[in-house]
Amino acid sequence: MLTIATLGCGARGRTYSRFAASLPDRYKIVAACDLVECRAQEVAALHPERSAPIFLDEEEFFAAGKLADLVIIATQDRDHHAHALRAIALGYDILLEKPAAQTLEECEDLDQKARAAGVKIGLCFVLRYTPFYRSVKAVIDSGKLGRIISIHASEGVEPYHQAHSFVRGHWAKSEHSTPMILAKCSHDADLLCWFAGSEIRQVSSFGRLDFFRKENAPAGAPQRCSDGCPHAKDCMYDAHRYLTDKRSWLRMVLDGAETASDEKVTHFIQTSPWGRCVYHCDNNVVDHQVIAGEMLNGVTINFTMTAFDSGRSIEIYGTKGALKGGQAWKDSHAFELSVRDHATGLTAEVPVEHPVEAGYAGHGGGDFGIVDSLDKLFGPHGTLSPGLDGLAGHRLALLAERSRLTKQRALAAIGS
Ligand SMILES: NC(=O)c1ccc[n+]([C@@H]2O[C@H](COP(=O)([O-])OP(=O)(O)OC[C@H]3O[C@@H](n4cnc5c(N)ncnc54)[C@H](O)[C@@H]3O)[C@@H](O)[C@H]2O)c1
Repeated sequence: MLTIATLGCGARGRTYSRFAASLPDRYKIVAACDLVECRAQEVAALHPERSAPIFLDEEEFFAAGKLADLVIIATQDRDHHAHALRAIALGYDILLEKPAAQTLEECEDLDQKARAAGVKIGLCFVLRYTPFYRSVKAVIDSGKLGRIISIHASEGVEPYHQAHSFVRGHWAKSEHSTPMILAKCSHDADLLCWFAGSEIRQVSSFGRLDFFRKENAPAGAPQRCSDGCPHAKDCMYDAHRYLTDKRSWLRMVLDGAETASDEKVTHFIQTSPWGRCVYHCDNNVVDHQVIAGEMLNGVTINFTMTAFDSGRSIEIYGTKGALKGGQAWKDSHAFELSVRDHATGLTAEVPVEHPVEAGYAGHGGGDFGIVDSLDKLFGPHGTLSPGLDGLAGHRLALLAERSRLTKQRALAAIGS
């Protein structure tokens, strides 16, 4: 039985806590902390006797000492480093939402302090736990691809998602959260390191915010969609879509969204950041970025992030075979993963088994998958060692951002 305290009971904290509570033989939620009382109460109510204590800020929470084997830290990006340091000081093992911190120096600091304290930190790289990416890793480990030579991957954020999270939302300004390449693509950076079986040696990156800017606003567009915008009917970013086909996005940013009346949602559109015209926000994170890099073991990587596509794709080129899969492959073929054998020239489907349990909905199954793995990671015979698991991917992303900002190739301090 692994006992769990949740610090930050927003969208992510609640999701992990609910999945943990759905496995009562293995996990027990024993404390919940959030600045917003109803969120903390919702998580505390997952305790079998509905009696877990709640805390209304991190001061109270940490002052209570170590309350569980594991703390899930799912506060916002800029607080992760400070909250994780305090959890390390109490000896908690930590499931830490990504990104671990805002800078590479802070990530390395966390790693060192966790090692020194014998604390294990797992980052919420939920894609590692999806049936799709597990299948990709199994193909690599089977040797079918031979030696991995290069990897090409892409992530299409999808335009409305970009607008919701990275133009209007929590991750619109890098100084308040983290740069796009870390906030959105730390999963991809992690996967590139995991699949290459190595760490970055050198990287170059380019990216810009080109579209969601004032100069692209159609003539006469007001500051908010609800201010009588003449383009509302034809604009794909019209915030009134939160009343109709984009309603599911609200549960991440509006308490009680599931049962909210249309009047409440209309008020939210008129007053919250999510009702602003996407061309008149104070966003500064990029809407497209590319990375080219070389790993310590010689594998070359390239990666594209764009607001203007939907879904992830990956191609891994090995000496014996080439793997192709993901959304683009699925869109143009009947299956989502395949391997071409260079010797025969034949391409075969790799079946990906998607379990049908309800929990497998979020992040392609990864949200449930990581919770299902918590005892294997953190339990008495867990696979994690003290330190920050996932540091390599963060190093890749943060060096890429350094390269984008300095317009120079960035070299890793290790092995360069
Ligand atoms: N792993 C993934 O795939 C994934 C996906 C989305 C978001 N995230 C990350 O998860 C984190 C949380 O995202 P979210 O969408 O749940 O955000 P959210 O805003 O819904 O949740 C954060 C919660 O933390 C609470 N909080 C803030 N400061 C606090 C404090 N000092 N003490 C106690 N509670 C505090 C807030 O009230 C809020 O309820 C972010 O860092 C985000 O980047 C990860």
